[in-house]
Amino acid sequence: MKIAPSILSADFGCLIEDIKKIERAGADLLHIDVMDGHFVPNITIGPGVIRSLKNRVSIPFDVHLMIDEPEKYINEFVKAGADIITVHQEACIHLNRVIQIIKDCGIKAGVALNPSTPVEMLEYVLSDIDMVLLMTVNPGFGGQKFIDSMIDKISDLNSTKKNKPFKFEIEVDGGISKSNIKIVTDAGADIIVAGSSIFGTEDPKKAIYELREANKK
Ligand code: DX5
Ligand code: ZN
Repeated sequence: MKIAPSILSADFGCLIEDIKKIERAGADLLHIDVMDGHFVPNITIGPGVIRSLKNRVSIPFDVHLMIDEPEKYINEFVKAGADIITVHQEACIHLNRVIQIIKDCGIKAGVALNPSTPVEMLEYVLSDIDMVLLMTVNPGFGGQKFIDSMIDKISDLNSTKKNKPFKFEIEVDGGISKSNIKIVTDAGADIIVAGSSIFGTEDPKKAIYELREANKK
């Protein structure tokens, strides 16, 4: 199980210090939530911040684009330092094309699904992608409650991997804490995004340790 702390819940006034804490704690990826105020009702950061962080952080940048027309900005995010770019299926009319644009840049491609979007929407792209991001809250904000029916969705997606040699990993994002991490990974999640349950605590390093411990029980 990999842990990808989401900087959405970090203190943007001392962002690099917060990131250093989770890097030292052994976080696997840095999850960066990009929001445009159109696709989701919130605005966060753009390529400039990612560029500034890139040469100070060594773990891979997992960039979650919650934006309309993501194809217009992929080059910018790649140049800024994204190692994985995830676009929303709901934001892409020509999803296959967008995936190819990301892959042609030489980085990993992921596709995210909102809670109400069925996994079947990805049937004909699953063999092309490196990651499926299942949203377990409605995207836009940190600190929301995990939607319980998403456990079946994770299991359903995981079972498609058993029949074919897909390479994609399952990332799960929203409302994950030490109280539900085990049920999420048991259902088949490979990568856990956690924002408020890491950066919303006094001690992010301890929070990561506790998530890993809770996953063992
Ligand atoms: C929500 C974002 C998440 C968010 C998760 O739209 O995509 O990555 O930061 O935050 P928590 O873990 O607090 O639900
Ligand atoms: Zn996210």
